[in-house]
Amino acid sequence: MIRLAIRCRAENAELALAQLIELAPTGIEEVRDGDIVEYAVYGPPGEVPTLPDLQVAVGDDLVEVTTSEVADDWQERWKDFHGSMLITPASAAAEPMVFLRPSWENSPVPAGATEVVLDPGQAFGTGSHPTTRLCIKHLLDIEAGGEFVDLGCGSGVLAIAAAKHGWGPVRGYDFDQLAVDATEANANDNGVSVAVERCDLRNGLPALAPTVFANLMRPLLLDVAAQVPQDHGMRDVVLSGLLDEEADEISDVYSSLGLIETGRVSEGGWTGLRLSAA
Ligand SMILES: C[S@@+](CC[C@H](N)C(=O)[O-])C[C@H]1O[C@@H](n2cnc3c(N)ncnc32)[C@H](O)[C@@H]1O
Repeated sequence: MIRLAIRCRAENAELALAQLIELAPTGIEEVRDGDIVEYAVYGPPGEVPTLPDLQVAVGDDLVEVTTSEVADDWQERWKDFHGSMLITPASAAAEPMVFLRPSWENSPVPAGATEVVLDPGQAFGTGSHPTTRLCIKHLLDIEAGGEFVDLGCGSGVLAIAAAKHGWGPVRGYDFDQLAVDATEANANDNGVSVAVERCDLRNGLPALAPTVFANLMRPLLLDVAAQVPQDHGMRDVVLSGLLDEEADEISDVYSSLGLIETGRVSEGGWTGLRLSAA
């Protein structure tokens, strides 16, 4: 297994990370060292991003790229980056709460929280990335019930949290077969029903629903907006995967679909938007 580390200047780290996530959607380790941030991705030889891709992603901010072989216990070490966490509503209300617990951890569920147990495998969505947490914070503020669609479901974390909070039927879509498999397995482990399908959102949208979540990134959120029909029937939409400075643009674009911004939360340079039918 190869560990590929990319070092860049801290002031441009969020931008670099946004690009790197597209190259390594399965997860990125982050280590801060003063003015320098190191991002590391893991993969078998031939599956980690190549140097030219990284140079395009990070541009002039690329300080250093190193590769190293990691020991056979890399999967165990990777798990060290994913602990359990308690997530509260965006509105700052005390409840409801979601407790995300990696399947290899045994922490007790805090009183009053709904537990979601995850083994993300190689799919994105352990909750260790702010973009996932921002979605869950909005989810906890929306009145549960009715159909729920998760565009880019990754590990299934959002779909499972929705099913546990009373939405149904719940559907998830992802173009990555590993994500489809992870969502099915995680839904099963959590005792909820999530219908998952493989689909590339750039080539057509699935049937939408009154509640739609999309933790994608700016280019794909723009692509999705361009494909949403005017009679979409969406009532509550949560969009994440946005750098703070990208949020206004996305909010404007979705307002042309009759969706008005009703909530915004940010963490670590990332913003999650909640939009509601006007
Ligand atoms: C940032 S992850 C979000 C995962 C999960 N929903 C969460 O909130 O943690 C984005 C997901 O979108 C998927 N994705 C990216 N581009 C896609 C596309 N064109 N069509 C379908 N899925 C896509 C990725 O495979 C990844 O699982």
